[in-house]
Amino acid sequence: MIEPVKILTKNYGKAESWTLAVYEQSGGYQTAKKALGMTPAAIIDEMKAANIRGRGGAGFPMGVKWSFMRPHPTKPAYLVINADEGEPGTHKDRTIMELDPHSLVEGCMIGAYAIGAHVAYIYVRDELHLSKKRLSDAIKEARAKGYLSKRPFGTSDYALEVHVHTGAGAYICGEETSLLNSLEGRRGEPRLKPPFPAQVGAFGCPSTVNNVESIAAAVPALSMGGAAFSALSRLHKINDGGVRLYGVNGHVEKPLVVELPCGPTINELIEMAGGVTKGRKVKAVIPGGSSCPVLRPDDVFHAPDEKSPLHEWNGMSVFDVPMGVDTMRSAGTMLGTCCLTVIAEGTCMVRAASNLARFYRHESCGQCTPCREGMGWIDSIFQKIVDGKGSIEELDSVSDIASSIIGNTICAFGDGAAMPMLGFLRKFRHEFVEHIQGKCSHDGNIL
Ligand SMILES: Cc1cc2nc3c(=O)[nH]c(=O)nc-3n(C[C@H](O)[C@H](O)[C@H](O)COP(=O)(O)O)c2cc1C
Repeated sequence: MIEPVKILTKNYGKAESWTLAVYEQSGGYQTAKKALGMTPAAIIDEMKAANIRGRGGAGFPMGVKWSFMRPHPTKPAYLVINADEGEPGTHKDRTIMELDPHSLVEGCMIGAYAIGAHVAYIYVRDELHLSKKRLSDAIKEARAKGYLSKRPFGTSDYALEVHVHTGAGAYICGEETSLLNSLEGRRGEPRLKPPFPAQVGAFGCPSTVNNVESIAAAVPALSMGGAAFSALSRLHKINDGGVRLYGVNGHVEKPLVVELPCGPTINELIEMAGGVTKGRKVKAVIPGGSSCPVLRPDDVFHAPDEKSPLHEWNGMSVFDVPMGVDTMRSAGTMLGTCCLTVIAEGTCMVRAASNLARFYRHESCGQCTPCREGMGWIDSIFQKIVDGKGSIEELDSVSDIASSIIGNTICAFGDGAAMPMLGFLRKFRHEFVEHIQGKCSHDGNIL
């Protein structure tokens, strides 16, 4: 059984854990001091060794991303923190901002120094009132103490300004280039890539966008050394290092956020959350936010090729395979944000799919026709099927519509909306057919 750890969460549970006094009692800001005595290249090497795969969903290695930044002859560089956390089922970043905001501020100092930025923006979703307050207070405290000033620690002439910027609460504004547009006061629509943010990011300047947890993880990774941090993971041999926050929600007895070495199994997480509600069985799981295709307990892991180190899990239930970026991808889904949504037996999967289709239709920014129109059509078809008015022809057209969204949009929203639709159809087609025939054998639970 995997055991919880207290590294990112070491201050959670302490009285007033969000204050500078408590943060400093556990060695707070000493790692930033260490960082400012190192070269930026040496810090980036530590981050590469730490194997921190981006915690915002895409799993891109953080050290590698930092290494893309090059000093520009005339333009400043920016560090931008993605604190939008709008993915349904995801609820981990807010625990850092609410319970230990100084770990994010210290992470900003390390990250910004490493990429050559003197300004960091933390883009927080508007609804997260407590996160905004605790972060703003933490920044004020860090300024007053001189950490965010010229010559922090009296030794370095490196200065950083950190600003909290409020988003208006659109899911698309979590996508990094929409976030940058929104930060600049424009409409939150994705930009074409390339150019990537490292070349043309915030205000046309080189920028790095990272998730809250990714940046907070820079602190223990640098403090203990990248290799040691990486080795804490069950999956460090396949470059998925360290510890991370896992969430469990949906039909479980005790929804939670828990810090674990990377690579718990789905079964272990469900057990930690007290099992499925009222002793029911698991019908399905969405591994890391609603954009990840759904899994059934009988899904079997299939390795992409026999040479891959992942092949040792070939043929095992996906629920027993360590949850990592590459393992979940090989299982036909994604790790995403690591916040698992558990769906109990008795749940109507047609209604669950319809509920999500409605969300994606509503949240599509409308810039790309396949996504704007396609998600509208899928939502309407699913709604008709829920109402017992759909047809097999319409059901079959959902696969075509979803397939023509995937890969044909400016940003990953389209893929993230269409792939779960295909997942529901692939795994639960029989339930859609039953609905079309006027039957639903479930108790009407929806997510
Ligand atoms: C529609 C959409 C919504 C997203 N929402 C978030 C979010 O709320 N928070 C986040 O960190 N990343 C989100 N992402 C991923 C970001 O685009 C980006 O990959 C991430 O912020 C990079 O940080 P990381 O490398 O540290 O994970 C979203 C992506 C898409 C396509």
